[in-house]
Amino acid sequence: MIKQYDQSFVLETAHTSYIFRLLPTKQLEHLYYGKKLTVSSSKDIEPLIEQHAFAPGNTNIYDEEHPEYSLEDMRLEAGMIGKGDIRVPFVEIIHADGSSTNDFLYHDAKINTSHTPIKSLPYALNNKEELEVTLVDETYAVTLKLYYNVYYEYDIITRRAVVINNNKDEIRLNRLMSTQLDFLNHNFVFTTFNGSWTNEMNRHDHAVESGLYINASFTGGSSSRANPFVMLSDKHTTEDEGDVYGLNLIYSGNHYEAVEVGSYGKMRFVSGINPQNFSFLLEEGEIFESPEAVMCFSAHGFNDMSMHMHSFINDCIVRGTWQHQERPVLLNSWEANYFKINEQKLIKQAKAAKKVGIDLFVMDDGWFGKRDNDQSSLGDWQYDPKKLPHGLKHLVDKINAIGLDFGIWVEPEMVNVDSDLYRNHPNWTIEIPGCNQSEGRHQRILDLCNPEVVDYLTDVMSELFSSANIKYVKWDMNRTFSDIYSPYLPANRQQEVFHRYIIGLYKLLHHLTHSFPDILFEGCASGGNRFDLGMLCFMPQIWASDNTDAICRYKIQNSYSYGYPLSAISNHVSSTPNHQTLRTTSLDTRYNVACFGILGYETNLADLSNEALEEIAKQIAHYKAHRKIFQFGTFYRVNQELHNWCVVSDDQEEAVGMILQELVLPNHQFHQFIARGLKEDMHYHFFNEEKQYNVKLFGDLINTASPVHIKQDSLAHQVVAKFVKMPGEVEDMHTTGSILTHGVCLKQAFSANGYNEQVRYFQDFASRLYFIEKESEKQ
Ligand code: DGJ
Repeated sequence: MIKQYDQSFVLETAHTSYIFRLLPTKQLEHLYYGKKLTVSSSKDIEPLIEQHAFAPGNTNIYDEEHPEYSLEDMRLEAGMIGKGDIRVPFVEIIHADGSSTNDFLYHDAKINTSHTPIKSLPYALNNKEELEVTLVDETYAVTLKLYYNVYYEYDIITRRAVVINNNKDEIRLNRLMSTQLDFLNHNFVFTTFNGSWTNEMNRHDHAVESGLYINASFTGGSSSRANPFVMLSDKHTTEDEGDVYGLNLIYSGNHYEAVEVGSYGKMRFVSGINPQNFSFLLEEGEIFESPEAVMCFSAHGFNDMSMHMHSFINDCIVRGTWQHQERPVLLNSWEANYFKINEQKLIKQAKAAKKVGIDLFVMDDGWFGKRDNDQSSLGDWQYDPKKLPHGLKHLVDKINAIGLDFGIWVEPEMVNVDSDLYRNHPNWTIEIPGCNQSEGRHQRILDLCNPEVVDYLTDVMSELFSSANIKYVKWDMNRTFSDIYSPYLPANRQQEVFHRYIIGLYKLLHHLTHSFPDILFEGCASGGNRFDLGMLCFMPQIWASDNTDAICRYKIQNSYSYGYPLSAISNHVSSTPNHQTLRTTSLDTRYNVACFGILGYETNLADLSNEALEEIAKQIAHYKAHRKIFQFGTFYRVNQELHNWCVVSDDQEEAVGMILQELVLPNHQFHQFIARGLKEDMHYHFFNEEKQYNVKLFGDLINTASPVHIKQDSLAHQVVAKFVKMPGEVEDMHTTGSILTHGVCLKQAFSANGYNEQVRYFQDFASRLYFIEKESEKQ
């Protein structure tokens, strides 16, 4: 709901309020963002207004008429340069006379009944309430528009800005943020998620004390180095209690989130396009649109904030055929084959996949041009006749005949110098003509600032996607930018490259996703190097990381879940020892982690033992039975000694939980599983799936039970292992939601104490899934 009381604006969601007002000096003063306040008149708002009597210290006053106002010490909706505010600005423009002073003052405001379209960028859908505030800098004839969209039931407010040059002289826009939040004090923890390839999304909590802290990407994409999702919370906030702001950007390029403590203790947060190496020329009548920032506040801890973000993303960011549709379980060819693929191998692997219940077979990198390694062929999107002698369509038909859908890997934004595309169009790449270029993975980036390149890629990809029955596309992007230069743009527009690239990419994705509405697109950028809300506007799911090690992956998925729903996070069960870490984990644990989200497999199923295949078949059947919960359920992180997740159906009648242990702590055998999201008074059946363990897992302890001595790993040991299985523990309880939420005392874990079905086999990296189902009647 958007209300105006005299000179004040109140934006309300179900549980939050956002309030600002017009200052007598005509800037917009931020008054409040947080837990919902009851407001029904401008009088009610008065206590929120700082009572300035004089400007502090040696600050500049805005004008003689208002000696009490120094913009350096005001909470503003949009900070500017040159009129006294010296904190991190919202907007920075260089005018024709060389000045960078901007004095945007309130002009008018109106309430719109839908989201004003953003022409160049994707934006959130389904809104019916928008506040549009226009500010004008009269001296330079430039307009700044601020847009606020209110998503009432999601507790989400979005913000963005537009600059319009009405001056006959061109202006240079050096910065335009998407949102700004000024707080009265700086008692916050700023949480960022940083990392690198195979090590995405490490959570870092920074106590805000003084100065400027920046979380930003300069890779050309949103990056694994610093995800655009950040949080500001109270230092006592936990998963279940306390204040937290979740903040994100609908953008896939270089982003910037800064927190600054001003000289008088107030704190400013801004986020938007990274201003580093960004500068846009605007001629008379031209406009610049910032990406949309997404803001969520919860007074009930991280889980509640995440829940709101998840629903908003599922309903207002993700769109198209697959938005709310259950996603297929896939087998990806990459780790089983790398570049060494051919028709015969793929068909063999697809047959094995069909037997265990896989829905979709994905042919990853290596199928086109002369792609025997990563040094050639990107750009030449024709199948390699050596590997696929009967062509792509033939392979797809064969895979379909096996009973599987077919998906394909592409990396359209890239080109190898050793490719026909590069040979024919050497001026179609981001590179500085005539200079030595730095490459990543032996590849260069196509210049999506050039509309001809975007049109070409639209045609080539459209042809490929229509050449066979393709149901899924994995869209990869494997390098960061260097030699940042577009041969298409003039010298004075080279600082526009990063942003124009993203606009070109969105145009390409818009065309393709509209022309092929039924294809399921999965984003990927060397794993999670472009995991953001911009990509999710086109692709409902993203490959979260190239790291499939269950222990690393637990942390990566856990961190993504703060800002992104399970339906967006794609995970695979892969080989052991793991290809990234050489860590050995059980098939059980690999599945137990991967099933929270979009499940796939990435291992050579044709090489696996019958025992492993049987287990995988059970996993897939189990996943399909609970797929809706795993992909779209309400997800909770539980803070306790063990890693503990719980995902619950919308009606709260069903849940699946997981515990995971990293390393055994000897003689600590009593663990709990803690549920979340259940109805307190409802009765539930709590149980696990009974497992049988290979006796070899207990090593030479077999001799404590065997009447004859068995040498470890001997033939006798193998034979016994074939026939003797160790029974796993059984959990089976009937109780209330409130007790499950308090915690379930689980069977005692093994600790040099003998073993039977009353003992939990719980070694390093062990995990368990637990099932919770509503009972029809109290038992
Ligand atoms: C990087 C991706 O993250 C991998 O999954 C795989 O598709 C390779 N690229 C292929 O080159």
